[in-house]
Amino acid sequence: MSDKLTLRFLNQDAMIAAGVTDMARCIDAMEEAFSLLGQGDYVMGGSTRNSHGQRVWFPPEPKFEGMPKGGPDQRFMGLVGYLGGKYKVCGNKWYGSNIYNPKDNNLPRSILTMQLTDAASCRPLAFMEANLLSGTRTGAVVGLSARHLAKEDSEKLGVVAAGPIAMYCADAIVKAVPAIKSVTVFDINAEASKRFKAEIEKLGVEVIIAEKMEDAIIDMDIVTSAISGSFTPDFKTEWLKPGVLLTLPGRINVEDAFIKSAYVVPDNWEMQKTYKIEGNMLPEGERAFPHPQLHRLVDDGEIAESDIHDLGQVVAGKFTIDKASDKPRYFISNGMILQDIAWAAECLKTAEEKGIGQELTLWDAPFRV
Ligand SMILES: NC(=O)c1ccc[n+]([C@@H]2O[C@H](COP(=O)([O-])OP(=O)(O)OC[C@H]3O[C@@H](n4cnc5c(N)ncnc54)[C@H](O)[C@@H]3O)[C@@H](O)[C@H]2O)c1
Repeated sequence: MSDKLTLRFLNQDAMIAAGVTDMARCIDAMEEAFSLLGQGDYVMGGSTRNSHGQRVWFPPEPKFEGMPKGGPDQRFMGLVGYLGGKYKVCGNKWYGSNIYNPKDNNLPRSILTMQLTDAASCRPLAFMEANLLSGTRTGAVVGLSARHLAKEDSEKLGVVAAGPIAMYCADAIVKAVPAIKSVTVFDINAEASKRFKAEIEKLGVEVIIAEKMEDAIIDMDIVTSAISGSFTPDFKTEWLKPGVLLTLPGRINVEDAFIKSAYVVPDNWEMQKTYKIEGNMLPEGERAFPHPQLHRLVDDGEIAESDIHDLGQVVAGKFTIDKASDKPRYFISNGMILQDIAWAAECLKTAEEKGIGQELTLWDAPFRV
């Protein structure tokens, strides 16, 4: 092998040419990634090997001029890990999120890049624009949850919030569940709802803009929610149809009784437990971690850990959902580097086959070995 080290640089246009927006293919890549997760052929960062990522926790009241202020959806984050199977690559996704970006800077809320590295030799393989990559994989996992968990005759999809992530999720669910006929969307921003309608109608489904949030929840077979910011919506149990799938890349509140009656399916329960360990290490007053309600129910013995089954276990065939049952489904997803690695590796494969992107030279020969 030559001493020369090169990597492929893929900007947004190159990623599009490499098929990053191909949602149906991405759902299949997520199927592969979650099957590997279910078999345990992966390692994520941190000492539990299951950390979502290393977050830069800016203080709520910075003492230095120019230091960003912490808060909801105000963060920098590095997600690292290894995915085995046919991939055998390591990945690192780095992003910043500033909730004021669309209004103040005409930029998306978050800006992401992705690196892939060969796990055996440590050779860098690619550096990629990752907004499309990350959004597509977030939606695709929600689509995968619908493929495996939703009732097969699900016809009505409700969507709370109409931002970019909600659009990826709706696209994925419509592709994963062919029976979907209508999508009802609610957003506090009417313009966002109109943009959503224009995009999602292209998939050949009816899109209805709801006047109130509950109109996007009541009588729906599947409901997804991706609100940003500090507000957490309350979903009343009486609004939820028997057998409903709640598939949640964002926060909502539901009643304890609903969770206790449901199939509880996280993306990765060990990762959720690591979030709790890490969140509790923050200074008092800042302590926080996702899904405190589910952790409380487990800690109080109201839900047995043995009754929680990761999506990977379902995909790998280790746990079976009765798809015809009227038992509700509660799927929670915070995103994992394993999803980014799988989708980045698929896009890189296409880029290599088609000669897309730019070759960058890191060195012709190492300065020292
Ligand atoms: N689970 C994952 O893998 C994953 C990945 C990426 C993003 N996310 C999360 O998804 C969320 C959405 O991301 P985004 O990039 O679309 O954010 P965004 O800020 O661009 O859009 C959010 C939308 O929510 C709407 N909204 C805010 N408050 C609302 C309310 N009370 N009722 C209805 N709509 C409301 C806004 O008007 C906006 O249209 C973020 O919180 C983000 O952290 C999760």
